[in-house]
Amino acid sequence: MTKLLITGGAGFIGSHVVRLLVNRYSEYQIVNLDALTYAGNLENLSDIEGSQNYRFIKGDITDAAFISGLFAKERFDGVIHLAAESHVDRSINNPLVFAKTNILGTINLLEGFRALWEDNWEGKRFYHISTDEVYGTLGETGLFREDTPYDPNSPYSASKASSDHFVRAYGETYGLPYVISNCSNNYGPNQFPEKLIPLFLNNIIEEKSLPVYGDGNYTRDWLYVEDHAAAIDLVLHKGKTGETYNIGGFNEWKNIDLVKSLCRVMDCKLGRPKGASEKLITFVKDRPGHDLRYAIDASKINNELGWQPSVTFKEGLEKTVDWYLAHQEWLDHVTSGAYLEYYNNHYHNNQPT
Ligand code: NAD
Ligand code: TYD
Repeated sequence: MTKLLITGGAGFIGSHVVRLLVNRYSEYQIVNLDALTYAGNLENLSDIEGSQNYRFIKGDITDAAFISGLFAKERFDGVIHLAAESHVDRSINNPLVFAKTNILGTINLLEGFRALWEDNWEGKRFYHISTDEVYGTLGETGLFREDTPYDPNSPYSASKASSDHFVRAYGETYGLPYVISNCSNNYGPNQFPEKLIPLFLNNIIEEKSLPVYGDGNYTRDWLYVEDHAAAIDLVLHKGKTGETYNIGGFNEWKNIDLVKSLCRVMDCKLGRPKGASEKLITFVKDRPGHDLRYAIDASKINNELGWQPSVTFKEGLEKTVDWYLAHQEWLDHVTSGAYLEYYNNHYHNNQPT
């Protein structure tokens, strides 16, 4: 594989994947295809935009004619597919766009790849990036394994589950050489401030309330984004065709405990009195269909490929806070205009419970 298409490379995780691969594989040609939706931001890649092994193409994966033309012209050997609508709350308000981008967009890419290589798949790979949310929710105990049955609960996770099924079906039906990974919640630099950690970080900076859904006793398994990018590099090069790998941080936190930790780090960094940020915590109406707990058993990728997280949560949270505090301009750019409209629409009814 020397010519790689990365979709969604201007987004949060995609930009870290693009950076890692561009810096590590000077012999590859890396093409980043991104529609630059509200979540896509080329500022995320300003440090590598001039690299000789990198190109950006603006385009929409839901446009079948455009995608088939692009594959015919560029003849990609490999694809890492990250482009997606990715926020659960938005999927509750607008499920259709999730079906279109996450399902139809994935099928368009699979079709483009199939049209090129169906006669000879030798040396080709389609790598689909997915989420642990396809497995639904856990109770207080247990872990998601690769053989956990799919049981998605939100329009987002249902659309991702569907896209995973299409990828597998192309493997079974056409012999398309795929690999899939399902990862837990990521955090780190460049995450759009609609997800828990950057949203609360930004609100703390602005001294706005911190809207914790329900009682805050929901659990997520957090992974630093650069550790996810490293896992993706490994699965791309060493993962077995037709396999799924679960990726997680071995790092479960109840939302309320995580938010309190974040508050403490922020008070310290901002020189505010201890407890100042915690006072901003407001319990608000719960998210409908809110999954109680996600937690990953990452022993397969650990045993077979030797991957494990390298950053502790304490280090990762501190690096993340430091990055956002040093990039106020980035935050200002992404929180103007459409963001404010989203924020006000989504949170305006969220009176304290
Ligand atoms: P993101 O929302 O930050 O970025 C998504 C990117 O896709 C953006 O750059 C956007 O412009 C692009 N995009 C959206 N629609 C497009 C379209 N129609 N055509 C082309 N590009 C389009 O998302 P993220 O958090 O970086 O997630 C990336 C992938 O990883 C997604 O597939 C997501 O399901 C998966 N994932 C995310 C997490 C997480 O915690 N964020 C965890 C596990 C898996
Ligand atoms: P989120 O970052 O949206 O990721 P996901 O829903 O994919 O896990 O949310 C993480 C957790 O934080 C989830 O349990 C919902 C909760 N949450 C809040 O309590 N308040 C908020 O404003 C947001 C965005 C999330």
